[in-house]
Amino acid sequence: YVLGVDLGTSAVKVSAMNRDGEIVAQQAFDYPLIQAKPGYSEQNPEDWVSGTTVAIVRLILDDHIKPEEISGISFSGQMHGLVLLGENNQVLRPAILWNDTRTAKQCQEIKAKMGSEFVDITKNQPLEGFTLPKMLWVKENEPDIWSQAKTFLLPKDYVRYRMTGKLGMDYSDATGTVLLDVKNGQWSQKICDVFDIPMSMCPPLMRSIDLAGKISSSFATFSGLDTHTEVFGGAADNAAGAVGASILSPNMVLSSIGTSGVVLKYEEDPTVDYHGVLQFEDHAIPDSYYSMGVTLAAGYSLNWFKKTFASDESFDDMVDSAAKSTVGANGLLYTPYIVGERAPHPDADIRGSFTGVDGTHKKVDFVRAVLEGIIFSFKDIMDIYDENDKEFDTVVAIGGGAKSPLWLQIQADIFNKKVVSLTNEQGPGMGAAMIAAVGLGWFKDFQECAEKFVHFGKTYVPNPDNAKKYDQLHKIYAQVYDQTKGISK
Ligand code: XUL
Repeated sequence: YVLGVDLGTSAVKVSAMNRDGEIVAQQAFDYPLIQAKPGYSEQNPEDWVSGTTVAIVRLILDDHIKPEEISGISFSGQMHGLVLLGENNQVLRPAILWNDTRTAKQCQEIKAKMGSEFVDITKNQPLEGFTLPKMLWVKENEPDIWSQAKTFLLPKDYVRYRMTGKLGMDYSDATGTVLLDVKNGQWSQKICDVFDIPMSMCPPLMRSIDLAGKISSSFATFSGLDTHTEVFGGAADNAAGAVGASILSPNMVLSSIGTSGVVLKYEEDPTVDYHGVLQFEDHAIPDSYYSMGVTLAAGYSLNWFKKTFASDESFDDMVDSAAKSTVGANGLLYTPYIVGERAPHPDADIRGSFTGVDGTHKKVDFVRAVLEGIIFSFKDIMDIYDENDKEFDTVVAIGGGAKSPLWLQIQADIFNKKVVSLTNEQGPGMGAAMIAAVGLGWFKDFQECAEKFVHFGKTYVPNPDNAKKYDQLHKIYAQVYDQTKGISK
């Protein structure tokens, strides 16, 4: 077997998979989020280690997975979270997570000190969620802690360290620290110098499929695992999610709807320049990359609508009811900026809108407008690929948008591309298990592994009439952002 450890923000999920890509057992364990002040979001690294251990112990004791049959383990990790370690690799303070927004000032400072050179080196704008601004926050606000810091890690790297005793970080997660010189594949001396961060704090880099070590004897005693089990680097959750959805060639784009939404494209060329409008990261696949745009309120928009206007209906009934409306929701348009936006408009202050409200509109039109508005926002991100002559012909839909045939068809019509869902969608945990399977040499590459592990469902083909209508509506949608910029609470 291989174990895929999906270290998320609310829980860790560990999946045991066999060589045929079947899930034989799965265990999850929740851990708390510490939100001491508005905008703060922290977690205790020890909770990740104990949660992962409990899940593994249950796989062994309750699901009867024999430790000696576990050949490899790898990871998908929540990105960007700062884990600071001291002299003896002890944790110095709770981890500051990706969704912690206390670092606006540090982001401004990075922009002021480095401007476009920062984007040239890291391929990303400094955003509150990323790791470097968090380091600068600790340096400024907790100098005693900072002076003891010897190394920094990201969340899954800490769990891997506790399993193997070896420090390291894989490239796909390292890009999200915005301390990496992406084109050259090494920590940026320049950024470390400008912000006075000792280079020695940056951990050794490895590829996702590289062997990080074997289970240490102390962790074997702790967990019941066997010391022969090999532990591989693993990847950032978005990279692992992309692997698990078979986003393995430039022809494929991911459309993922969770609370937030992600449009993600496989990239071959690290010199492509999206000017930091899209995030750009190393992929889990050696020598490849992905770009990504985030719609902050994707599933969140629908949850908000249900809670506020449709609490008497089930979620599925509400989504299905949109079929009673028409393409274009009888002239009603929704922009999903209800908690601000990230891509293509990095703007924390913008707010959403319904436009074109008519006295005859019914609730079903509003539901449809929300479904369409989320996808229009994804289309805005895809248009950046068109503008940069990045061609692709298939969109793989996962998450909430892949559960409804109606929403899948709306995606095909708005994107004007083939949209395909998966029949065995498992998210990033599947990608993590695939990384271990490729690392072990079970397959010659991810392509061969995906043929066994990832199963595509029905393909949704654009309806030309609908695609034409949506194209016209999207032009109006695209103007709403500029016209509503001044609105705020
Ligand atoms: C990506 C990001 C989130 C986290 C969630 O930049 O912040 O997708 O990776 O775990």
